[in-house]
Amino acid sequence: MQNIHSVNHVTSTRIIAHRGYSQKYPENTRVAFQAAVKAGAAMIELDVMLSRDRKPVVIHDATLERTTNGHGAVSDFTVADLKKLDAGSWFDPIYADQRLPELSEVLDLVGGRTSLNIELKAQAYEHHHLPDAIEKQVVAMVKKKNLTDSVLISSFEIDFLVQIASMPDPPAIALISDIPASRRILELCTHLKVFSWHPDYRIVTLRQVEMMHAAGIKVFPYNVNTFENYVQMVDLKVDGVITDDPIAAAQWSRNRNAA
Ligand code: G3P
Ligand code: MG
Repeated sequence: MQNIHSVNHVTSTRIIAHRGYSQKYPENTRVAFQAAVKAGAAMIELDVMLSRDRKPVVIHDATLERTTNGHGAVSDFTVADLKKLDAGSWFDPIYADQRLPELSEVLDLVGGRTSLNIELKAQAYEHHHLPDAIEKQVVAMVKKKNLTDSVLISSFEIDFLVQIASMPDPPAIALISDIPASRRILELCTHLKVFSWHPDYRIVTLRQVEMMHAAGIKVFPYNVNTFENYVQMVDLKVDGVITDDPIAAAQWSRNRNAA
């Protein structure tokens, strides 16, 4: 039987909270993830990079300046040092207590309460495939915590997906893209059995959605942050939207169904 938190659980148009509830809370923090669960998001998207001591940490940028009071590259700091930073004040001083989370903490906090879309940032890709490469660590962690069925791992970097697809019993995988999918990319996605394609909403066309659906691949566009864009995507028959505001998106859904 399908678990309601499983990646495969079907709702009308899934609402996926981008970086947690990032419209109202500092992105990629505990408070943003808890709020996204409370908002009833079907899935939470989050971004992962590696610290200097090679621990998966949850942050969008490769550098610290935009979302913390630190300076420099994430990969130059140990987890212990990253955890001393304030990851909330940039958004609002009332969130000064928010710390940059490790992926393991986020899995413990919200894993199993909703499904999770873990984006492996392309900047964390390493050609030499070390034993502790980010994709290997993340898959091992997800399995150890028994979250395989409720996790979807995505990336702009297709070789991450190639690596994960070659592992035994991997979690579901997804390709993120800001350019339309070519025939060659579609064939590779089909070969890798990717679960979903996550395009920038601005490049989605009916033809692309139909092409993906014909290959059994779901479509979850990102940056869907207005009612107009939501309606546009639903009319193109996408399977879910990745949005900064899951509560507003639920209202957009009701408004559209009432129209
Ligand atoms: O996963 C979809 C979206 O998050 C990709 O872009 O830059 O927001 O991580 P970005
Ligand atoms: Mg992302």
